[in-house]
Amino acid sequence: MSYASHRTVVRRVPAATVRFMRRAVYPGSYDPVTNGHIDVVERAAGLFDEVIVAVLINKTKNGLFTVDERIDMLREVTSHLPGVRVDSWHGLLVDYCKTHDVNVIVKGLRAVSDFDYELQMAQMNQQLSGVETLFMPTNPLWSFLSSSLVKEVAAYGGDVAHLVPETVHRKLLVRAAEHKASH
Ligand code: PNS
Repeated sequence: MSYASHRTVVRRVPAATVRFMRRAVYPGSYDPVTNGHIDVVERAAGLFDEVIVAVLINKTKNGLFTVDERIDMLREVTSHLPGVRVDSWHGLLVDYCKTHDVNVIVKGLRAVSDFDYELQMAQMNQQLSGVETLFMPTNPLWSFLSSSLVKEVAAYGGDVAHLVPETVHRKLLVRAAEHKASH
């Protein structure tokens, strides 16, 4: 028997056929989505085949907008990004990743003040499930911006038109008027 007949046949598979779908999740409360979030999701969309913007439901926190309202706003403002879809989840983020075959968590970092807690969560998530976190520095234009501040400024009648998409701005004005009327 020749040497050749004993050799294991190694079938070479072209790299392209074994390439995994690069799917990332960009989680948050999105109460409501701001221009800072949109900046991150647009840049993440260029790095992954699919980016899932996931509204994480926190039952202990009372939102200004319902989860369905947040999802509708997110869908509207990401509709120009073909690789992006919007979803929601109640529970651990790592369980979402496991269930939906997500290998990367994307997080925006605005300033050093975000870093401590984000690092802790990234390490916890890595240890729980092996899922990696990619930190994306936000555009300095939006480094001061948060959903909480937008809500506070809008509630007192401050101008936030340049900080959120137009559709969100309209809904903030309506919600602020509703609150005023009921108090
Ligand atoms: O927009 P936020 O409120 O800063 O987002 C925080 C969020 C929702 C991403 C974070 O609280 C989270 O991942 N919650 C899901 C529950 C979970 O997995 N907790 C353990 C984190 S290590």
